[in-house]
Amino acid sequence: IVQQIDSSAISLEGYESFMIKEIRESWGAVRDTIAGLMGDVEIGKAVKALDRARRVFVVAAGTSFHAGLIFSLRLLRNGKTVIPVIASEHEFLETDEDDAILVISQSGETMDSLLALKRFKSNGSFVISLTNTLGNSISSYSNVALHTRAGPEIGVAATKTFTSQVGALLLLSSMIIGESIDYLKEAETVVANSFSKSIGYMEKIGREVANKSSMYYLGKGLGVPMAMEGALKIKEIAYIHAEAYPAGESKHGPIALVEKGFPVIFVNTGELVDELRNNLKEMQSRQARTYVISAGPELKSDSETREIVLEVSDPRLTTLALAPPLQLIAYYAAKERGTNPDRPRNLAKTVTVR
Ligand code: G6P
Repeated sequence: IVQQIDSSAISLEGYESFMIKEIRESWGAVRDTIAGLMGDVEIGKAVKALDRARRVFVVAAGTSFHAGLIFSLRLLRNGKTVIPVIASEHEFLETDEDDAILVISQSGETMDSLLALKRFKSNGSFVISLTNTLGNSISSYSNVALHTRAGPEIGVAATKTFTSQVGALLLLSSMIIGESIDYLKEAETVVANSFSKSIGYMEKIGREVANKSSMYYLGKGLGVPMAMEGALKIKEIAYIHAEAYPAGESKHGPIALVEKGFPVIFVNTGELVDELRNNLKEMQSRQARTYVISAGPELKSDSETREIVLEVSDPRLTTLALAPPLQLIAYYAAKERGTNPDRPRNLAKTVTVR
């Protein structure tokens, strides 16, 4: 947990940028986050409140929202009523004393998330937060404050803090569902192996897409929030227009843009692989430049398909495995374009205005 970030005290330690340094810190961050939460009495209180709640509202912005979507989907599939809320859209929803709110924010200071928290809390809802710093505003207004333990993140675009949020939320959702958390013992290894196995291929993809103006990220199931995060990252860091869609939805409009060489990245979590393979074939038949990142059974449809298959010991760890490769594509695309991945234009690490 970070008390106060004095960024001048943190050095690059020989790395070219904070972004690559922090991606490399992500498996340690996931390990520390899971271990820290398992030893934190507060998580029991959070589980109890979330389990009891009639509805769970998951509130976040940007990358944190994507981590929240993974959590929401996992609970929805287990019969819980969960409503993911983009923080800046909170005014359109009402909560009551039977609802629980989970606010996810790396910084703990995002104004949209803080305002949503305050209003939902004033409705009598029980508030749980997940932040990466100590003594931040969001945690101080929460009934239960949980923390990721990613350490300070200097790069403006979230990397290791996102992967840590996903680790924390896998743990929290498993505890709510009441399933064994043994699979999380492999979390650190899965992230570390995914990084080392994918870095070469992701550099190649990053360099190839660097001169493109637009691209798609497609996935199914939990692959959708991961695709959304991949698309956000490449917009933020490399300034390439990217959109994410549920793969099946791509035929309802987005495919109209696809022509020879249009880059499409398939994010394969191993869910509904046959359907995803059909979507891949549709894109290939339009001569799209397709890439597949698989954390489940291979998608391979023909010898032309460029695919990397990451080893994942348990299907619940696929989202964790997919985080580093998606971040690496954005990093290498930015590097190829000569932009600074740590300080993207127009963006702030913490947005404290509405
Ligand atoms: C800013 C950053 C994003 C981040 C978002 C939410 O817009 O540029 O990278 O995802 O805020 O930040 P938070 O600290 O609430 O997770």
